[in-house]
Amino acid sequence: MSNKRTSTPEWKALKDHHKTLKNTHIRDLFAEDAARFDNLHIGLKGLLFDYSKHGITQETVKLLCDLAGVCDLETRRNEMFNGAPINLSEDRAALHTALRRPVSDTVEVDGQNIMPLIHEVLAKMKDVSDAVRSGEWKGYSGKHITDIVTIGIGGSIIGPQMAMEALKPYSNRELNFHFVSNVDGSNLSETLRIIRPETTLFIVSSKTFTTQETLTNAKSAKDWLCKTLGKDAVANHFIAVTASVKTAEAFGIDAENIFPLWDWVGGRYSLWSSIGLPLCISIGFENFRTLLDGAHSMDRHFQETPFEQNIPVLMALIGIWNRNFCGAAALAILPYEQYLDGLANYISQIDMESNGKSVDREGDKIDYATSPVIFGEPGTNGQHAFYQMLHQGTDIVPCDFIACAQTQNPLGDHHDKLLANAIGQTQALMQGQENKDKPHKNFAGNRPSSTIILDKLDPYHLGMLLALYEHKICVQGIIWNINSFDQWGVELGKILAKNVLSLLDQEDNQDLDSSTRGLIEHIRARKKG
Ligand code: F6P
Repeated sequence: MSNKRTSTPEWKALKDHHKTLKNTHIRDLFAEDAARFDNLHIGLKGLLFDYSKHGITQETVKLLCDLAGVCDLETRRNEMFNGAPINLSEDRAALHTALRRPVSDTVEVDGQNIMPLIHEVLAKMKDVSDAVRSGEWKGYSGKHITDIVTIGIGGSIIGPQMAMEALKPYSNRELNFHFVSNVDGSNLSETLRIIRPETTLFIVSSKTFTTQETLTNAKSAKDWLCKTLGKDAVANHFIAVTASVKTAEAFGIDAENIFPLWDWVGGRYSLWSSIGLPLCISIGFENFRTLLDGAHSMDRHFQETPFEQNIPVLMALIGIWNRNFCGAAALAILPYEQYLDGLANYISQIDMESNGKSVDREGDKIDYATSPVIFGEPGTNGQHAFYQMLHQGTDIVPCDFIACAQTQNPLGDHHDKLLANAIGQTQALMQGQENKDKPHKNFAGNRPSSTIILDKLDPYHLGMLLALYEHKICVQGIIWNINSFDQWGVELGKILAKNVLSLLDQEDNQDLDSSTRGLIEHIRARKKG
């Protein structure tokens, strides 16, 4: 068991500090310091981060920054930006930040400057998105495209789907976008019911081009198209986004229609690459570029700002405080913005797939907790569902509230009501309300939350927000000394599912455990109805 982190004087100092602070209510911290908000919030280019409603003091922040120092945060952060192979188990760089840099920058991988490559692909994204949006891209029978179906799973689809919803006000409303990810045939079938082969463009997004779900869906989609239009139609109706160009060609996709990806872009960090093509078609290249610019400005802030003023660093360190010193096992992501419907799901992949690890970078088992469970949904809907537990449950769940000062849809007093609910919730969780006579109406309060306010949910600020979470998660991975850029935990299930598939029609499965065998036998007996 590795105690490389927990045995440091900095970790111990935080443990001692927690003992002195744990009985102090957050509302007393506010009462003691009239300038608490002034001292514990940061504004950056239309993004405000308020971290005053946590059970921390300025001393806590100082001690957390000391911990970051002893964990070599600065060196490790710079290694990421400079393309060092920080994904040790796969000997790869993690260079999603390069995808949003200007072409005049230089970033080298194996001695080659990758910036011209990135911008070449961006130029191709511009050409294709312009052609589809203008109607210049024609289907095989000469009709223009009305429906774009993205086929992919995990990091190859969650990002574009979430961002497309987030930026709906910037979308081309004449185009219909569909997303198919589940190997459950119902997902594809329901989509095929509402589209026509002549006017549909499929984008098959898979970094590896080996993923069972994506290839199964892509093959069925291709069969469906070819049945009506014939084999030669594939070139007009299929695009691939992949790091495995040869496999996509072997699948039958025209070489011209393949957008390359690189092994130094992790799936869950790939929205900024050609994986973002469906989004680029929807919002247009200029808006896509602005999204990259917003993310790049957060990258610069992360790289250039001292820890005490650095939003992703502070957000990460407060998360460490809540997780490792206060024992919080979950984090709720609560956007008060309907367009951010997909945000909690998106962040749950980045956080839990990156930091859901229990061995450190040297392969030793660690003696501290890592990624919390991430969940959430937009307010105010969640208030009428799971907030009961947030206010009165036995576990403390820190929350990230996210809201926008301006609405995309001014409608009566809707937006004021929405914002009032967001702020009211942060206040209720923090201050609580004592009721000695009626314990069921007692609110203990002292429940921590951060609040992020964007001026507006536009491409620039969405880029900032998403990069903020990426870097927060990166910092936590550094503090926990884990590899945030691999995901070996998903592999065993894939292998066993393949094995079970080969056994589903077999009668004699005596080597299996009795539950697995029993389930297979039950399904075999019942599946014909
Ligand atoms: O199974 C996990 C995973 O590898 C994710 O990390 C990735 O985003 C997803 O599968 C899809 O992989 P691919 O893009 O190679 O199809």
